[in-house]
Amino acid sequence: MKKTPTSRIDRLLGAMGYGSRAEMARMARAGGVVLDGEDVADVSRRIAVTHDLPQRMEIDGEPLDPVPGLVILLNKPLGMTCSHKEDGALVYDVLPDRWRGRDPAISTVGRLDKQTSGLLLLTDDGDLLHRIISPKRHVAKVYRATLARPLEGHEGELFASGTLVLEGEDKPLAPARLEVISPTEALLTVTEGRYHQVRRMFAAAGNHVETLHRERMGGLVMPDDLAPGQWRLLDDTEVATIFDGPAAA
Ligand code: URA
Repeated sequence: MKKTPTSRIDRLLGAMGYGSRAEMARMARAGGVVLDGEDVADVSRRIAVTHDLPQRMEIDGEPLDPVPGLVILLNKPLGMTCSHKEDGALVYDVLPDRWRGRDPAISTVGRLDKQTSGLLLLTDDGDLLHRIISPKRHVAKVYRATLARPLEGHEGELFASGTLVLEGEDKPLAPARLEVISPTEALLTVTEGRYHQVRRMFAAAGNHVETLHRERMGGLVMPDDLAPGQWRLLDDTEVATIFDGPAAA
């Protein structure tokens, strides 16, 4: 069984973006650090870092932020970039400011283009991130695309063939599954995460993607009650569903 990690309280709070060790000591002296209903006087004390700490610990009267090992589900709105450093609106802007100071840092699990909306995961768990994006895991991503021109009928076979090579690349794409919803709308399931993949696939078929929205990753479906720009934490059971679900072809 995995050993529960332990940490000094001041180190843990520092790594969660609350401030330096000196600031944490000052905050504790002022009664701002409470664990299991008791003021913490000595922030150099070691504690077990468990996921129930936010229910047991308060910082300045507020529940502790989620401890490291968090997974966030965001309904990414259009116009936000999946980057830590570009100009303009970034997906990280929707999270609390303090979380920018977290170590390990929170990163997106793969990327969605600025003009793609929908299901985006963010995590500070590097192992999990790599497991989700690893091509070996074949996590299926389902996109809803609306198209500039009506589908011609050959696209499903082309995408499923496993022989389609995108412009500027050498390696054929893994088979992908197309489900036609209407002449200009389709669901496309892919297991890879190549640059602008879905847009380039439709371009290779002589079409143009007008809108693109990710609805699903593995068995994890975007919940109806999460509006664009809203996010929530996933629990372990929900995270496990990412590795279930539909295969691409
Ligand atoms: N494919 C794209 O073209 N864009 C995305 O954002 C995701 C997949």
